[in-house]
Amino acid sequence: MDVILTAAVTANGMIARHSSETVEWSADLPLFRKQTMGQTVVMGSATEKTLATELDGRSIVVMHREMKPKMVLSEVFTDQCFIIGGAKTYTRFAPFLTHLYLTFHPIVFQSDAVPLFSDLNKELNLSLFKKVMVDEKREIYQHQYKVVACN
Ligand SMILES: NC(=O)c1ccc[n+]([C@@H]2O[C@H](COP(=O)([O-])OP(=O)(O)OC[C@H]3O[C@@H](n4cnc5c(N)ncnc54)[C@H](OP(=O)(O)O)[C@@H]3O)[C@@H](O)[C@H]2O)c1
Repeated sequence: MDVILTAAVTANGMIARHSSETVEWSADLPLFRKQTMGQTVVMGSATEKTLATELDGRSIVVMHREMKPKMVLSEVFTDQCFIIGGAKTYTRFAPFLTHLYLTFHPIVFQSDAVPLFSDLNKELNLSLFKKVMVDEKREIYQHQYKVVACN
C-alpha cells in the first residue's frame, strides 16, 4: 500500500498561518479531490475542525493522540492511504511514508506559522518522479516524490 503525504505548502515550507486556519489559499483542492476519491484519508483532529466541506466518497480516519499510526495503517484496505495533515499528523506518520505530494504556492508565511512537520527527528531522502500542473497561469505544480530513505 502507498502511504502518501499530500500538502499545500508555501515557499518557506508552511502549511497554515496558525493551527485553526482553514486553508483557503490552496490551489490544488480539485486535484486533491480527484486523487483521494475512493481511497483512505487520515487527518488529525485539529485539521478535521478546519475543514470547510465534507470529504465524501473517501474512507476517513481522524487521528487522536492515543491512536498508533502503525495500527491505523494495518487496518487500511485501500491501495492508497493519504495522510492529509496537519503538521502533527504528518510527523507521526513520517516513518511510514512512501510518497510526498507537495504543491508549492508562491507565498511566504511568517515564521510563527505551522510548518509541514512539527517535530521531526528523522531525515527523508526523496526522488522526484512526476510534476502535475495545478494552475497554469500561476505556474503552480504538484511535485510527486518517492521516499527513498528515512533515517
Ligand atoms: N496546507 C495543507 O495542505 C494542510 C493540510 C492539512 C492541515 N492543514 C492545517 O494544519 C493545521 C492543523 O495542524 P496541527 O498540526 O495543528 O494539527 P493536526 O495534525 O491536524 O491534529 C493534531 C493531532 O495531534 C494530536 N496531538 C495533540 N497534542 C498531542 C500530544 N501532546 N501528543 C501526541 N499527539 C498530540 C491530536 O490528538 P488529540 O485529538 O487527542 O488532541 C491530533 O491527532 C490547520 O490549520 C489545518 O488547516 C494544512
